[in-house]
Amino acid sequence: MSRLIVVSNRVSLPSPDGAQGGLAVALQAALREAGGLWFGWSGREIDTFTGSVRFEEIDGVRSAVVDLEPQDVEEYYNGFANRTLWPLFHYRIDLAQYNRSFGSGYERVNKRFAEPLHVMIEPDDTVWINDYHLIPIASQLREHGVKNRIGFFLHTPWPPTRLLVSLPYHERLVRTMFAYDVLGFQTGEWLESFLHYCQNELGGTVDGEYVTVDGKRLRAVVCPIGIDFKNFLAASNTKASVDLAERMRISLRQLSMIVGVDRLDYSKGLEERLNSFETYLKRHEEAHRAVVLIQVAPQSRGQVEQYRNVRDKLNEMAGRINGAFAEVDWTPIRYVNRGYSRDELTALYRAARVGLVTPLRDGMNLVAKEYIAAQDPDDPGVLVLSRFAGAAAQMQDALLVNPYAPEEVADALHRALTMPLGERKQRHRALLEGVEREDVHWWRERFVTMIEEADRG
Ligand code: ADP
Ligand code: G6P
Repeated sequence: MSRLIVVSNRVSLPSPDGAQGGLAVALQAALREAGGLWFGWSGREIDTFTGSVRFEEIDGVRSAVVDLEPQDVEEYYNGFANRTLWPLFHYRIDLAQYNRSFGSGYERVNKRFAEPLHVMIEPDDTVWINDYHLIPIASQLREHGVKNRIGFFLHTPWPPTRLLVSLPYHERLVRTMFAYDVLGFQTGEWLESFLHYCQNELGGTVDGEYVTVDGKRLRAVVCPIGIDFKNFLAASNTKASVDLAERMRISLRQLSMIVGVDRLDYSKGLEERLNSFETYLKRHEEAHRAVVLIQVAPQSRGQVEQYRNVRDKLNEMAGRINGAFAEVDWTPIRYVNRGYSRDELTALYRAARVGLVTPLRDGMNLVAKEYIAAQDPDDPGVLVLSRFAGAAAQMQDALLVNPYAPEEVADALHRALTMPLGERKQRHRALLEGVEREDVHWWRERFVTMIEEADRG
């Protein structure tokens, strides 16, 4: 069996305290089972880049990490990855910044990663690159003579062509993708946009799962990521988790709890969510002193001003709504900026009558799947899910909403909180079946097999 080399910007770091995001959580689970090597940035900075690799074993996963220079981190990570590509890929061209230094930093760091990486790759290895930070790395590896099969998985959406062309040098970036053998997307919608771009901007042709541009062919597929279901279920059955859930039920007394768990990111629609909750409170007097929203949102990417702006805006909104609606013995929103352990998270999800997951745009959204996995099948809560999350493609039995429309979300909250047990169980059963079947191991096996079996033409 060939060895698996997984590459991503972030290698899972042991930080029970912060939200690592879906990529790290999922790859950690996938590699723990499959073995292999995980290569990426250590998260640390060093005065001068050396390319020297440190091997570490993190939670049973063998990792190889390199340090980056402060300028690399600024231009590549805070710059091109998080100020240019992230907003653009989430349809926010109004927030995207196009500085040439970001683009050159991005290319430089991709080259820097490729240096030590190509030395580690052995002829039989399967190489799997993850996410928007590292799009051009396969072309760098090819320049070093790497002949192995290389797959790329995009965890975010792929934007429509009309938005993508606002990126300077967009053609150059997309052409580098033809150094891969396989490209994986979370949903058919993102794949369609990619194919549209190739056909309309690069003069490419599509034949079944294969796309050809300038004589270079690759396989482009949909392969939705899942959660580590068994592990998550086990966490929700631990004594610590069950006890905490019970304590929360008592602390909440007769309150029905709605939960939101997100990195503090503008793509998650948190402002719109609080707005919708306010609309719900305005329209439903009976919810006063009866319902509470617990929103957990640890700071993410704090070096980027737009992220600090979201934080400030949410502080202001939570304070204002609480000020307007709270009673001396009831506060409608509990807004928490820290991360929680897996056990604690499962307890939080389980205690919530509603999981409120309303991103404005999201590649997948694993929180939606975790919420379903954590429910008590005999008395499950209801998932209210944005139709603009990749997860909506698989989770049609959730209450699907338009997160931009506060009255629609308010109606869904009311419906969820008053839904009869029979309907709750029925919806939950259908959702659970998918979350259990299409889990993170299914995703990893399927995608790796697609890389191994891709016809290289
Ligand atoms: P993204 O990858 O954009 O952050 P996802 O919903 O796909 O969004 O994945 C988020 C992951 O991070 C989930 O596994 C979730 O449990 C975890 N996470 C998010 N917020 C927190 C938090 N406050 N504490 C602990 N884990 C969190
Ligand atoms: C999303 C991205 C990941 C990223 C994660 C956390 O899940 O798709 O690539 O790792 O967010 O963001 P961060 O910038 O902290 O790594």
